[in-house]
Amino acid sequence: MVAPTARVTTIERFILDQEEKYPEATGELSNLLYDIALAAKIIAASIRRAGLVNILGSAGATNVQGEEQQKLDVFANQTLTQALNHTGRVCVMASEEDETIIPVPDNYPVGRYVVLYDPLDGSSNIDVNGAVGTIFSIYRRVTTQGPGCLEDVLQPGCKQVAAGYVIYGSSTMLIYSTGQGVAGFTLDPSIGEFLLSHSRIVTPRVGRYYSVNESNFARWSKGTQWAVRGFHGDRPEEIRGKNSRYIGSLVADFHRNLLAGGIFMYPADTKNRHGKLRLLYECSPMAFIAEQAGGSATDGTRRILDIVPTELHERTPLVIGSREDVGYVADTLRRMGEE
Ligand code: AHG
Ligand code: MN
Ligand code: MN
Repeated sequence: MVAPTARVTTIERFILDQEEKYPEATGELSNLLYDIALAAKIIAASIRRAGLVNILGSAGATNVQGEEQQKLDVFANQTLTQALNHTGRVCVMASEEDETIIPVPDNYPVGRYVVLYDPLDGSSNIDVNGAVGTIFSIYRRVTTQGPGCLEDVLQPGCKQVAAGYVIYGSSTMLIYSTGQGVAGFTLDPSIGEFLLSHSRIVTPRVGRYYSVNESNFARWSKGTQWAVRGFHGDRPEEIRGKNSRYIGSLVADFHRNLLAGGIFMYPADTKNRHGKLRLLYECSPMAFIAEQAGGSATDGTRRILDIVPTELHERTPLVIGSREDVGYVADTLRRMGEE
């Protein structure tokens, strides 16, 4: 282990330094980001033990301490909710795991912010030791008094004040943006701190990878099929072929493409008319990060951040990543009359 030097920046230091640039900042948003970072460390510790569940007792069974073992998505959801609901910084929350909005309990103060999350993304990867993540999205409340309500939650992504994700991969990383670029932190488990590892993430304009679940190919629109054939290298006059990578965990697929350059798609198909991914917990926060890193995100025709949600668990097709590649898909759909 190395001794701390002036070059080591903890997430706390970084957030404070950012805040100092804004004299009007109250520190509330910074504290909210620490709350999320704390929840992420607790979730990371639990995920690291997931492989031991078979040895120590499976979900639903009791462990050696006589406590009930929880499924990780339930645990991650509770951890985030409990890290946020009593602080006085939040007026309402919403989670992919809860059917309705999550109010602040009666005995706690109500704050200015709204937090939405996908507590455990890519959860099918847990059983095979694959990468999973947490996605979060933060808005300012729009109502002016009382507890937060659905109106505070149903805001278009362009109104986000911050968004980010945590990837529990070979290391745990937290990536976030408050609208001034994208920064990345890597968890040093030996000291329990997120340390600045990527001070300004900029995604390549053209990517090396395309990521899409091709088992849905026959159910896609003609335009989507055409564009993906382009990625195969079948249309060299239109676009250079790419390498395929698909984990089945949005966070992990997006993260690789963000750093290395690439495009992720979850298009609509004849079974999933609006795609699979959720606007509020998955698409909007990732679109915010993509744009802040110089990339872009659309549903094929509309900018994701402009979509005004009408339902809590609304789904949308997603095309996200390197700007030119997303543009290629949008142009192809337009050309094929699929606007
Ligand atoms: P979640 O685990 O939160 O339900 O999300 C899973 C999502 C997303 O992470 C991933 O991109 C997509 O589902 C994969 O879906 P397919 O298995 O249909 O490819
Ligand atoms: Mn998800
Ligand atoms: Mn999930």
